[in-house]
Amino acid sequence: LRYDGGTQTLPLLTGTEGDQAFEVKNLLGTAGMVTLDPGFGNTASCKSEITYIDGAAGILRYRGYSIQDLATGSSFLEVCYLLIKGRLPEAAELKEFADELRSNAELPAGMADMLNAFPRNAHPMTLLASSVNTLSAFYADSVDPQDPAQVDLATTRLLAKLPTIAAHIYRNSIGETPIAPDPSLDYVENFLNMTFGSAKPEGEVGELFAKAMDLLLILHADHEQNCSTATVRVVGSSQADLYGSVSAGINALFGPLHGGANQAVLEMLEQIREMGGDLDAFLAQVKDRESKTRLMGFGHRVYKNFDPRSREIKGLARQILDRQERPDELFELALQLEDKALADPYFTERKLYPNVDFFTGVIYRAMGFPTSMFTVLFAIGRLPGWIAHWREQLNDPATRISRPRQLYVGPGERAYPGR
Ligand code: MLT
Repeated sequence: LRYDGGTQTLPLLTGTEGDQAFEVKNLLGTAGMVTLDPGFGNTASCKSEITYIDGAAGILRYRGYSIQDLATGSSFLEVCYLLIKGRLPEAAELKEFADELRSNAELPAGMADMLNAFPRNAHPMTLLASSVNTLSAFYADSVDPQDPAQVDLATTRLLAKLPTIAAHIYRNSIGETPIAPDPSLDYVENFLNMTFGSAKPEGEVGELFAKAMDLLLILHADHEQNCSTATVRVVGSSQADLYGSVSAGINALFGPLHGGANQAVLEMLEQIREMGGDLDAFLAQVKDRESKTRLMGFGHRVYKNFDPRSREIKGLARQILDRQERPDELFELALQLEDKALADPYFTERKLYPNVDFFTGVIYRAMGFPTSMFTVLFAIGRLPGWIAHWREQLNDPATRISRPRQLYVGPGERAYPGR
């Protein structure tokens, strides 16, 4: 849909959207071209050096390194460093970074009281977004985007405290006493310890869970201009502080179409189980356009091939679930569903392949997380990506405040009827 400038007054532009024809009557002051692009599917809102995706080939790289190499060779903290600072750390730099996070993991005095005052049955994502926003009240000395030292301090505090906040929210939700961070543990072990306490598995299983959590966080760490990252950038473009911008991103991630999708996959698998595990009947429903049933965890706006993260996650799911005494019914269903869908031209012709959300839910569930925490885990993983984008934009002299153009399609001036 284009407006080519010119001197016309009314109508300036006509177009169609779905079945509906409309006229844009009043593009006051507009010159040049306007493209209607709902959801910004075609509009590049920024340039970025952080993450590269080739959706057709199924390639994902952070700062030039393939996700597969990072998943096998790096820890989540190394990936945080890489995303935020642009290069992999030397051993001494990584130690310093990890120590800094360790010594900042405690919550500020007063935040525990605030968290304890929230209704226990509130969704953890609501509480997470509120708490992160409130960090700017507790730490007014790190809210000025113009002061690089304050930006670094906010970065450290946010990375260090998000797992502590998340675990505190979880413990409150199950009526258990929150557990303070333990400076002797590393980032991921500490999070698992603050979450599960004495219920955390020890020994080999404990190590496997910590490794799995670390890998899942790496795989979620950035994904270019998705809904939440674009939100962080839009809010940050007004020079809002890091805490407030990331809090906005957390709210964007909360939506079922974005971070809530892994929860939806699990619910779909449960629904199939209730249908007696009849996958053919379920897939027939998906293909029936009237039924509105969707194959959750399949298809992605940018991937027209396998989401490279889904392959890594499937391998991880096998490691976690195959060690269980009895086969995990939902995992078995997911495997069969994937096979059937990939053998069906209906899905492959539409380029619907498993995405990052397809197997994550079954892993989180096997690790003991309730479904309401799944998106919180996504947020902990995505945090370095949000921070990296916020900082990249801040340091780019070409940054302007985000202000998308609107096409007005409502009535022209109307005579006011009076009373
Ligand atoms: C993500 O990781 O953010 C999701 O795959 C959604 C997206 O990229 O649009």
